Amino acid sequence: MALVNEHYLKLKAGYLFPEIGRRVKAFTEANPQAKVIRLGIGDVTCPLPPAIIKAFQDAVEEMATEKSFMGYGPEQGYEFLINTIIEKSYQPLGVELKASEVFISDGSKCDCANILDIFALENVVAIGDPVYPVYNDTNVMIGRTGEANEQGYYKGLVYLPCTEANGFNPAFPDQEVDIIYLCFPNNPTGAVATREQLKGWVDYALQHNAVIFFDAAYEAFITDPTIPHSIYEIEGAKKCAIEFRSFSKTAGFTGVRCALTVVPEELTAHTAAGEPIQLNKLWNRRQSTKFNGVSYPVQKAAAAVYSDEGWPQVKEIIDYYMENARIIRTGLAEAGITVYGGVNAPYIWLKTPNTMSSWEFFDKLLTECNVVGTPGSGFGPSGEGFFRLSAFCNRDNVIEAVERIKRNLK
Ligand code: MLT
Repeated sequence: MALVNEHYLKLKAGYLFPEIGRRVKAFTEANPQAKVIRLGIGDVTCPLPPAIIKAFQDAVEEMATEKSFMGYGPEQGYEFLINTIIEKSYQPLGVELKASEVFISDGSKCDCANILDIFALENVVAIGDPVYPVYNDTNVMIGRTGEANEQGYYKGLVYLPCTEANGFNPAFPDQEVDIIYLCFPNNPTGAVATREQLKGWVDYALQHNAVIFFDAAYEAFITDPTIPHSIYEIEGAKKCAIEFRSFSKTAGFTGVRCALTVVPEELTAHTAAGEPIQLNKLWNRRQSTKFNGVSYPVQKAAAAVYSDEGWPQVKEIIDYYMENARIIRTGLAEAGITVYGGVNAPYIWLKTPNTMSSWEFFDKLLTECNVVGTPGSGFGPSGEGFFRLSAFCNRDNVIEAVERIKRNLK
């Protein structure tokens, strides 16, 4: 008799975004005339810029002749892309990395989940609340937790509340933890961590022999020059942090799929007997066994993001989304709504008016304004009473959505 992984049965609801999709589908089927504007899932809408398309197409052409055809690539990614990332994205921050420390993959979502493979189940894990649901759910799936309580907190995980009162920057855990997930710029709150705040986390991790999983998927949206883009800008971070980055939001690759994970060679965790083990070696072993790399054309397209032609085109799209964020932020503030985020991140985190619950506000927005957002409570109990709007949308729709919300709330 085949047995299931019963840890999956502990998961409370469906994954947040399919659940929203289901509700929106039901609404649009019942109201086919409604012009629904989607500011829910953070999925990019602008097409890939010309320099990236060109690199993509050229690489596909290379596959057409025996001489330039590429079969399996390195599981860790092609050196041309890894070296470009190091030179164009890390060196300008003063961060030196070896090619062997950067692993190309098909997405940060998968890497954030897969990284758990190389850590013992006994580790105590701390996550934010609210949080990108993948961190929570993958720890449940792998069997690190007990059941959820009525509030939705899983036994065995340490939740770090990110609230208005702490500026959505959590305090250090009040118990010993071994792994800490940090996401800055934050999904869903749009908060960022200053250099001092990140230094605090690095010092904390070094002092407690903990490992930080630093999700920097939204670093390209930082506009404040004082905010670090990488945790490795902080001294000592290579000894305590793994960093995840993605081309998804930065360069419109949500459908194309390409990301990277940095596992420094200096970073170790321990066996139960206390022997230090290089995490880089374990991750390399994991990837070589379970992953066959990202396709050559995709990696060529990703490398073009950093070309002299590509980067200005990519940056123009980032600026476009951030102007959307500004329009949403200022429009909602004019309507008397308390808003956060949207300055260094493509997400606006708003406080629901009249103490409405997050799902009540979701329904109101959908049925009365035909606008889709994401209920804050879907990201964790501390997200209750908040709501996330995404700036990844076409400009006319953003303006229209803001007008509808303003009209409806006045
Ligand atoms: C989001 O809307 O939070 C993101 O699109 C989810 C993701 O990046 O997987």
